[in-house]
Amino acid sequence: MSLRNMGIAMENSSTARHRAPALDRVLSPVHRWVWRNTERRVQKLLRFSETEIGGGRDILRAAEVTSDPLLRRLYMLHAVDEHRHGTLFRRRASALLRATSSAGARTFRADWLSPAGHGLDELNVANESDDTMLAFLHVAEKSAAARFTIYRDVLHSDPATQAIFEEILHDEMFHMNYTLSQLVRVSPDRHRWQLWRARLTRLWKAYLRLATALAGVIGTMILTIQYFVVLPLFAFLAKRAERREKTGWHPVAAGRNPSEY
Ligand SMILES: [Fe+2]
Ligand SMILES: [Fe+2]
Repeated sequence: MSLRNMGIAMENSSTARHRAPALDRVLSPVHRWVWRNTERRVQKLLRFSETEIGGGRDILRAAEVTSDPLLRRLYMLHAVDEHRHGTLFRRRASALLRATSSAGARTFRADWLSPAGHGLDELNVANESDDTMLAFLHVAEKSAAARFTIYRDVLHSDPATQAIFEEILHDEMFHMNYTLSQLVRVSPDRHRWQLWRARLTRLWKAYLRLATALAGVIGTMILTIQYFVVLPLFAFLAKRAERREKTGWHPVAAGRNPSEY
């Protein structure tokens, strides 16, 4: 019996039944707008491809370091899936690029509106134990499944890309389910705490990313205000002081700069 069919929490794996979270459903017009533009779709698919392939590499590393034989096999399977997802995204991006004549055009990517699903790039495999690794993966895969569900739902205008999300979503749900069932197996008493810890860590990293982006925006605004408001004021004062200066040589007051000689 294969790992996928040995009852590793596959009971919820019907992607058709899977619904996007309420917030994403409310924001579906925004997601539809983000995905409507072909150049932006190409850029997003290429970005997703990098994320999936990078995530696959990390999970392969996790397969090397774990001492649990079942986890090693599941991680290997998982890594192959992620690499395949990356390849599917890249192939679709290439096909769209060939079909469009405006290749290379710069488009607003709106990554913060429609991020890649996993966030596996935040993973530091060497610092993770089996239970923290599984908790991290479960939270990341759940997020990926939610993201890919809404992307699949809004991509009616591009059935080929929609079919890829549908196919990948099936795997992401398997990843989401096996990581949870394995977490319960390896950490029966502390799995809930590990899940909360992974969620809070993810939330904290999201906050740090947002704060960094916000700091960049505020820094740009302050420098722009300095350039257009404060600097002209200094230039005006300097010019006014210059106009008050007498031109040419003129005698210095006797008390100023007294000479010893
Ligand atoms: Fe994936
Ligand atoms: Fe995945």
